[in-house]
Amino acid sequence: MNWEEKYQTGQVFWNRGAPSPPMAHYLDQHPAHGRTLVPGCGHGHEVALAVKHGLDATGLDIAPSGVTAAHTLYPHLADRIVVGDLFNPAPAMRGAFDVVLEHTCMSGLHPSLRPSYRRGIDLTLRPGGVLIGVWFINPDLDPGDEGPPFPFSVPALTALFADGYKIVDDYVPAVSFNGREGRERVRVLRRLG
Ligand SMILES: C[S@@+](CC[C@H](N)C(=O)[O-])C[C@H]1O[C@@H](n2cnc3c(N)ncnc32)[C@H](O)[C@@H]1O
Repeated sequence: MNWEEKYQTGQVFWNRGAPSPPMAHYLDQHPAHGRTLVPGCGHGHEVALAVKHGLDATGLDIAPSGVTAAHTLYPHLADRIVVGDLFNPAPAMRGAFDVVLEHTCMSGLHPSLRPSYRRGIDLTLRPGGVLIGVWFINPDLDPGDEGPPFPFSVPALTALFADGYKIVDDYVPAVSFNGREGRERVRVLRRLG
């Protein structure tokens, strides 16, 4: 998947132009604290959400044009939204985060890249930290369409984080973007120390 090309040609079909409603609801109900990473942040909406909730947030995205668009949308957050690869994070990001916010980074990745995603979380989230995910489990694909987004079952999510993480919250959210009702799952995992 050439993410940079997608941003350059404006094919950002995943972008809803606002923060994830289930993520906003979760953070309203469960205040989080500390250094926070938003991997695959795209236009930066969840970075803005995190900062609004008092988190010391950094957005990371592999596509420079996505990051440039995020800087234009959220100029006051420009220092916080950077180009980089979750699979090979900069030394300063390793073990540096108390919280990771997942929103449609994972579902954009081909299933073969899921172990790399898991490794990226392991490299950035400190032991004891929390991975707060709005996991896009069941995208509505056209017949014959494979993705992205790629369907991701709840058992596959469980298996991906079966070792080294403990589920601390898990539910189908009552709020969502139009068209994503019942397709997402809020699952929060604590990294074991
Ligand atoms: C489906 S988009 C979601 C963007 C944003 N989270 C949203 O909800 O609008 C997936 C994003 O992950 C980024 N991405 C893909 N692989 C990445 C990697 N290895 N490291 C960092 N970002 C990555 C892409 O550039 C893209 O912006």
